[in-house]
Amino acid sequence: MEDIAGLLEFKLKSKTSPLWPQKVIANFDVFLKDHAAAEKKAMSTALSFIAKYPDQPELVKTMFSIAKEELEHFEQITELLHKRNQGLKSDEKDPYIQELLKELRHGVRDRFLDRLLLAAIVENRGCERFGLVAGALSEDDQLKAYYEHLSREEAKHYGQYIKLARLYFEKNEIEKRLMELLEAEARIVNALPITPMLH
Ligand SMILES: [Fe+2]
Ligand SMILES: [Fe+2]
Repeated sequence: MEDIAGLLEFKLKSKTSPLWPQKVIANFDVFLKDHAAAEKKAMSTALSFIAKYPDQPELVKTMFSIAKEELEHFEQITELLHKRNQGLKSDEKDPYIQELLKELRHGVRDRFLDRLLLAAIVENRGCERFGLVAGALSEDDQLKAYYEHLSREEAKHYGQYIKLARLYFEKNEIEKRLMELLEAEARIVNALPITPMLH
């Protein structure tokens, strides 16, 4: 990582199994219900940053923007479910997120950095997986284009989280902690079963 641009485009440390998109396509309604729930959680995450760090104008502004976009994704996926005569599912804990949250450190400053970096990593994983879904949706051009669009949106979001981290923390500190959290995320992803869920 040479510069901010390099940092904005950080890579995950493990690739999703090629079996995952196959499972998604074979159980697409199950996937969509989980995807809708994940968009809602992404919106809640952005809003919770505003609640936790209300005195940081740059952060608040960015989080309003992300929350609005996640709400839009949530609404679009809900509409897609309704078109398929499907409904939303009730909230369930996402084991991937639960495991990631265990990595949060305790001091106020450390926790702030960890929250920003974990949110960036989750968005990056979303970017990767929506790209895989788009690649597997070979027979529906409209849906394929929509998932390509979502993949780009999540890439933008992870960049926004990293940009905020750059505003409040030194680059070296970010890089060091990002590497640690990426290792943890790779371990967590690899230990989870392959299901048609987003994570
Ligand atoms: Fe989203
Ligand atoms: Fe997002």
